Amino acid sequence: MKAGQIWTEELLRWFDHSKREFPWREDNPRDPYRVWISETMLQQTRTETVRPYYISWMEKYPHVADLAEAEESEVLHSWQGLGYYSRARHIHQAAREIMENYGGEIPHDKISLQKLPGIGEYTSGAILSIAYGEKQPAVDGNVLRVYARLYAVDEDILQAEGKKKIRNLAEATIPSDRPGDFNEALMDLGADICIPRCPRCSLCPIRFFCQALAQGRTEILPVRSQKKKPPLFYAACGIIRKGNSFLMHLRPEKGMLASMWEFPMVLTEKKKESIPALEYLTGGDAGQSVWRHKHIFTHRIWDMTAYMVSRGESVPEGSDWCWQSPEKWEKIPLAGPHARLAAFIKSALF
Ligand code: ADE
Repeated sequence: MKAGQIWTEELLRWFDHSKREFPWREDNPRDPYRVWISETMLQQTRTETVRPYYISWMEKYPHVADLAEAEESEVLHSWQGLGYYSRARHIHQAAREIMENYGGEIPHDKISLQKLPGIGEYTSGAILSIAYGEKQPAVDGNVLRVYARLYAVDEDILQAEGKKKIRNLAEATIPSDRPGDFNEALMDLGADICIPRCPRCSLCPIRFFCQALAQGRTEILPVRSQKKKPPLFYAACGIIRKGNSFLMHLRPEKGMLASMWEFPMVLTEKKKESIPALEYLTGGDAGQSVWRHKHIFTHRIWDMTAYMVSRGESVPEGSDWCWQSPEKWEKIPLAGPHARLAAFIKSALF
């Protein structure tokens, strides 16, 4: 480590001239509502994906009150394509709680923030530091990697011990001056320079402080345990047409892709079981397969095939089944990859 100089100052100096441009860094970048929404969107999602969603979100729901007043299905629809839909549901519930219990103001303290749905250690740290100027770290995957290299942390950063060690380092090093900029500078450094493979050390503003670089271990650190491969399911979807409408199913209120619409679908572990299961569900005969897509979620993979299915004598009925026209698909939340299938049907059949 380079003596006599503080790396945090170097990092902030670099950030002042090299920070990336984003819509959430433009108008009112310290507005806590804006910080909360952008940081939630940015979890597990690339900045380039978030950009257009953030802009249209702020047009639709410029203040927390606008969000609290919206219907859940509308909010889910606005989130469609960003994935991890529980984030949208949580934001919406939290907006209602903020209106009810905090007079429409995003809480200023960590305990109240973390009581709100969907706000954990990372998001509360980001809101408190960026919006309220408090000395709170915001440790995401990029920041874990930067600290693991800077301090040559040998513990696995995906395990509790490694995370705790880095959190302690982050708490000990965050400056009281400009903590929000400091957290964002770490994020930018992790995104552009201290990247997972082949870090661009020659461009790094804090390379003289980096223990991994000094030890020739930048390619080895951080240590990350191998994640187990998520299980694979075969997803057979049925395209069942009645005039200009298609049979759709509303997923249950709890669980994966909750309260979103899908084409009739069965999930099986064996491929050969998927067509009989789809025919059993729909009461029709599955014909030609017309569409295929592999969708990778964090905890599972769906190998999806869509079949044209004849309309049998008994189609599924009940409040969660409905015939919907393609015009309606523009207004309802479609369940993740089912939005892709809807786009395919529109382009192929209309
Ligand atoms: N990733 C997470 N938060 C971010 C932010 N505020 N700016 C850029 N990338 C981010």
